[in-house]
Amino acid sequence: MMFETLKKAPADKIFALVAEFKADDRADKVDLGIGVYKDPHGSTPIMSAVKKAEHSVIGAAATKTYVGVTGNRGFCDAVSDLVFADSVPSDRIAAVQAPGGTGSLWVLFQLLKRAKPNATIYLSDPTWPNHKPMCEAVGLKVETYPYFDAETGTVKFDEMLACLDGLGPDDAVLLHGCCHNPTGANLTPEQWDKVAASLKKTGAFAIVDLAYLGFGDGITEDAYGARKLASEVPELMLAFSASKNFGLYRERAGAAIAIGKDADATAIALSNMGNIVRTSYSQPPDHGAEIVRLILTEPTLRAEWETELKEMRERMARLRQKLADAIRERSNASDFDFVAEHRGMFSLLGLTPEQVDHLKVKNALYMIGDSRINIAGIPEDRVGELADAILSAVR
Ligand code: LMR
Repeated sequence: MMFETLKKAPADKIFALVAEFKADDRADKVDLGIGVYKDPHGSTPIMSAVKKAEHSVIGAAATKTYVGVTGNRGFCDAVSDLVFADSVPSDRIAAVQAPGGTGSLWVLFQLLKRAKPNATIYLSDPTWPNHKPMCEAVGLKVETYPYFDAETGTVKFDEMLACLDGLGPDDAVLLHGCCHNPTGANLTPEQWDKVAASLKKTGAFAIVDLAYLGFGDGITEDAYGARKLASEVPELMLAFSASKNFGLYRERAGAAIAIGKDADATAIALSNMGNIVRTSYSQPPDHGAEIVRLILTEPTLRAEWETELKEMRERMARLRQKLADAIRERSNASDFDFVAEHRGMFSLLGLTPEQVDHLKVKNALYMIGDSRINIAGIPEDRVGELADAILSAVR
């Protein structure tokens, strides 16, 4: 007998909350949990550009034979261009298509472990709950760097930079490219410049997790950090996800990208990524990636996608402002003003686990246990009610 020798594995807290929310039969329940975009009706529709591209892809498809270990090349090129523009020469970019942002991180963490078996990876405190278990599963040592000041809702940048300045060439740093998950507090362009200078100085290796490009201030604005690092440091890795900005969650479209110091080093990185893919899952699913490729390379579809993405981004910014205003009006205090300053899909409210639990039990208001809220889940016509509930929990 084998399985009883194992202990039950811990549930992922984000997906555990999805199940809890589903099982709650209160009609007025509100889901501010998992990071999935919602429209004003509370649903997650297929984007119109995606629907059209999907139609063309299905119509044009003539075969289901294998694409190849590293996936859809047109997708990899289009995504590399979207992310890096002209910040780095294309012969220094090695990209493989991978199953979503998580699959991309998986490939990159393995590559890091192969290249630097003794590396310690530094994660932001706090970070997305899957980062640490993934790094540990690959066998990397994990530490944290200071990031979020829960008192003010802002980035503790001086402390973060002091930590980064103390790293060395056997250390790696995982940075959120934009729209920090879970906090919503992000680096300014000037701060990215300082991070790039620090990495250049110490030789620490950076991996960028870019899961929300276009959800913050705009595609160019959100890509600032990735482009800055790519243009300054000799080597870099980046995990791109099309789950949120193309709304392709279940299709698992992402890209693992390595930037090498020259074309030869880049070719070695690409061959290792191909080998990691082949020994992990052979090759990625094509459908979502082909949709993204078509949208990014066909001007009309691309314009439509960019317009839809802008609408989503502006809706989240509006909801942030509404919630911050509603809380300020009721409390006469600026304690939650930071919600309007944050960008992306999330804000970390700074509530205790007991307060989070109270909101779930008493108000059917669901957020992640660390008090992360999904801004897109806020029902626009119930912002006042939400503000009342949050204030009653913290008093
Ligand atoms: C989230 O943080 O809620 C999303 O990235 C979904 C996920 O895979 O956890």
